[in-house]
Amino acid sequence: MSSSAGIKKELAKMLNQALELEHQARIQYLAHAELLKGINAEPVIERLKEIASDEQKHEGIFRNLVASYLDEEPSMGIAPTHKAKDTKKILEVNLAGEKEAIDFYKKIYQKVIENRTALQYEFETLEHEIRHVIIDEQEHVTELNVLLGI
Ligand SMILES: [Fe+2]
Ligand SMILES: [Fe+2]
Repeated sequence: MSSSAGIKKELAKMLNQALELEHQARIQYLAHAELLKGINAEPVIERLKEIASDEQKHEGIFRNLVASYLDEEPSMGIAPTHKAKDTKKILEVNLAGEKEAIDFYKKIYQKVIENRTALQYEFETLEHEIRHVIIDEQEHVTELNVLLGI
């Protein structure tokens, strides 16, 4: 059984990795949006920018959880970004990123659930916020699937 301080430290570390994934996702979406050209590009560009603004909200949520609820310093780092040029490749590379994020955030969520009693003053907030972010990422997967025609 982990101590309350121990589990908070572990969760802060994971949420900082999540924060770095959000930095990566936002910058990648914005950079890719600038690469799209042509008469059919506008709706895709708009969607990528909308998703990027969701990722920015997630950054804020994770920073706040790390700093205010888990008493650690929010990361300023960024996970490795991936290049892509044509529309299909851009959508695929970001779809893979969304799935990677969901897989990892579910691990964080699971850890929160398993440590409910040790997180006496943090549990409901962590559970709510992380679940909310996962739901947003699932929406992103669905939107990218639609754009890809999957
Ligand atoms: Fe996100
Ligand atoms: Fe996302």
